[in-house]
Amino acid sequence: MKLFSKVIVFIVCLGLVLAAEDDQNKNNTSNATGEDGQPKADAPTEEKELPNGLCSTCNCDAAKKLFDCSSAKLYKLFNMTEWLTLNASGVATDTMLLDRNGIASVPQFPLLDVKILDLSHNNISTIAKKAFIGLSNLEVLDLSYNMLTSNNLIPEIFEGSYNPDEYLPLEKLRVLRLGNNQLHSLDQDLFEHMPNLEELSLVSNVFKVIDRLSETAIASVKTLRSLDLSYMELLSIPEYIFNAPQGLEYLNLTGNLLTTIPEALIYATHLKWLSLDENPIDNIQGDHVFPTLKSLEYLSLSYITPLKMIGRGAFSNLEGLKEVHICNNPEFSFFHADAFVRSDPDEPTRKIWPLVKKLYLHNNNLSTLDAQTLARWDNMDVIDMRVNPWNCDCQNQWLVETLLPQIEKTTPEIMNNVVCATPKQMAGVSMVDLEHKHSQMRCVDKYGNNPQNDGALLIGLLIGLLAGIPLTAALIMIYKRGCFGLVRRGPADFSRAFYSRATNDDY
Ligand SMILES: *[C@@H]1O[C@H](CO)[C@@H](O)[C@H](O)[C@H]1NC(C)=O
Ligand SMILES: *[C@@H]1O[C@H](CO)[C@@H](O)[C@H](O)[C@H]1NC(C)=O
Repeated sequence: MKLFSKVIVFIVCLGLVLAAEDDQNKNNTSNATGEDGQPKADAPTEEKELPNGLCSTCNCDAAKKLFDCSSAKLYKLFNMTEWLTLNASGVATDTMLLDRNGIASVPQFPLLDVKILDLSHNNISTIAKKAFIGLSNLEVLDLSYNMLTSNNLIPEIFEGSYNPDEYLPLEKLRVLRLGNNQLHSLDQDLFEHMPNLEELSLVSNVFKVIDRLSETAIASVKTLRSLDLSYMELLSIPEYIFNAPQGLEYLNLTGNLLTTIPEALIYATHLKWLSLDENPIDNIQGDHVFPTLKSLEYLSLSYITPLKMIGRGAFSNLEGLKEVHICNNPEFSFFHADAFVRSDPDEPTRKIWPLVKKLYLHNNNLSTLDAQTLARWDNMDVIDMRVNPWNCDCQNQWLVETLLPQIEKTTPEIMNNVVCATPKQMAGVSMVDLEHKHSQMRCVDKYGNNPQNDGALLIGLLIGLLAGIPLTAALIMIYKRGCFGLVRRGPADFSRAFYSRATNDDY
């Protein structure tokens, strides 16, 4: 009897060990093996099994402090037991990537020391209340490319732990990406648990208008530095939305339906970077110039199909401009010489220009650029004037003499495609060739007659005149003296000779 029971125990143990090995081979993360059985066989399995758990389903990179579960065909987030295996693995996870899966809902996360959490490109429509309360060090939360709706995105989702000074804050959260969801409005208290939010993106949510609630929500984020409101089909920007976020530096308004420069910008006093690309703005002049934005350094006005004209004073209030992109605007033909200049407030007769270092003007419909548009062309790092129908007449001579040599010095790689379109005789001529040949471009007269023929005509006239004077003198003498008995000739004949001479020289 004793021997028999020993044999049984031996067989059971052997079976458990084999089963455990089999499980390990399958990378099974469950710890069901040996749950009911022998401590001797159980203990070693448990130790090997748990640390491998999530780190075998996903990729744990200890050196980069990365837990990478991108594109892992996950349809739901892990349960507590599975999360524990990650904790037990000892791999620090500053960055947790859970993007590009099929996750539909986000339950509460366990206590984890994660700084960056990427949940983008899933099917998330619901998120539990206090979902991120366990991630007290969370700084960056990416929820873009999901199915979040205005009804489901409620403030309680972002509740953090108790804090005597703030209302249940997610204290460290700096960046929140909500782009490419199905939001059309925001709860007015959506950001109340984010006392330190600096960067917010709402790109590609079709709002059309920023209603009062959304305006209140955004305007309440006083720590905001970067706001992406691109591709939201916005027809206007509420006037006071930038009044409270005094530190706003970056504002992306690309791809909306704005037809004028938004007046709300006047409150974005610390703005450094602004894009209004792809908005149907047709001119920037008169009452619709930029307001005073002393800190603005970067401005982009590209891919604006109806933009025809940038008028006097358009940028005069942007005294800190360093980089300006006005590109790919097919109808943009008129760039006023006084677009940038302003008068010195202390000495109104003195003019001041911003110290623009980079000016991108490629692929517009510009035929001319005034030398007084900016003051220090010699100080610039980039001037891009490619693919415009340049008018190669004497008024643009400075382009060939001053601007192109500067481009050649700084960025020779963008010298190509600077080509004359008018006048007819010059069409297709490379301005760089003109520069290298030190060509003098001719002047077009006020009727737009082509300068080469005019020039030739002038030369013809001159030659005719020079040749005509001695000839006339000789003929007058002959006439006066009545030599050779020649027939009297009228003055009309002389002028005919004069013109025929000139015409001969022309061709
Ligand atoms: C993970 O481990 C840390 C200590 O390493 C601990 O403070 C934390 O509570 C653990 N998380 C969970 C969910 O057990
Ligand atoms: C380009 O400018 C010229 C005048 O300089 C104008 O006649 C022409 O219509 C403009 N082209 C477009 C597409 O706006």
